[in-house]
Amino acid sequence: MSDTPLLKVRDLSKFYGSRIGCQNVSFELWPGEVLAIVGESGSGKTTLLNCLATRLAPSAGSVEYRMRDGQFRDLYRLSEAERRFLMRTDWGFVHQNPADGLRMTVSAGANVGERLMAIGDRHYGNIRATATDWLGRVEIASDRIDDQPRAFSGGMRQRLQIARNLVTNPRLVFMDEPTGGLDVSVQARLLDLLRGLVSDLGLAAIVVTHDLAVARLLSHRMMVMKDGHIVETGLTDRVLDDPQAPYTQLLVSSILQV
Ligand SMILES: Nc1ncnc2c1ncn2[C@@H]1O[C@H](COP(=O)(O)OP(=O)(O)O)[C@@H](O)[C@H]1O
Ligand SMILES: [Mg+2]
Repeated sequence: MSDTPLLKVRDLSKFYGSRIGCQNVSFELWPGEVLAIVGESGSGKTTLLNCLATRLAPSAGSVEYRMRDGQFRDLYRLSEAERRFLMRTDWGFVHQNPADGLRMTVSAGANVGERLMAIGDRHYGNIRATATDWLGRVEIASDRIDDQPRAFSGGMRQRLQIARNLVTNPRLVFMDEPTGGLDVSVQARLLDLLRGLVSDLGLAAIVVTHDLAVARLLSHRMMVMKDGHIVETGLTDRVLDDPQAPYTQLLVSSILQV
């Protein structure tokens, strides 16, 4: 593992008028590290994630990312072309609702192949072979390659969205409630698959979830949010087994009672 962070976040805040989205968030993310952002609904998780992924302009603070050439760049000072390059290749973004991250009316193979074409792959045979390989890696049968995702189940759609995101070998993947809309049994299988892929590929990831079980299974480290602020941060097992902040104690105990 490299001894230089991939992402450096300093005093990041986002206000919606007078309402706090998130405030004074600072942390670093390391290569290969999976960080979970947890907290109840409305605590600011999605706001923070979108500010990190350049999908929402912060009101204050900075986010620096270590580019492939080793240079740190302020994400909000990138040119539009540089930002698009990151979004298309170096990063992935897995939406809770697969329809937000897929093109529902083009084939599964094209959904995966499109990301390869965006990084300059023009060889149809290679693209199809890589797409087939990736469908297999997310447990979608190769004879579904020409089907559109609207014909897929929720779990399959989410697995396809994951393949589409990982096919370009990103270094960092953002995920917003990746198992949120799925049945419990489907969730468990998807989590298992995600955990394997993230670890095999050595991906860094930031995973937003209100589900502490998801944080436990996927993340190395976690940050607990309340009312837009980080109230506790630490190694996942430590935070869940020995929560220090009163709010985290409440969150952990209320989950255990469910
Ligand atoms: N587009 C928006 N306009 C105004 N307020 C918003 C908007 N998006 C989120 N908020 C508010 O910001 C706070 C954090 O919301 P959000 O980031 O969606 O939390 P979470 O993802 O943890 O549920 C909440 O008070 C929410 O009502
Ligand atoms: Mg949210």
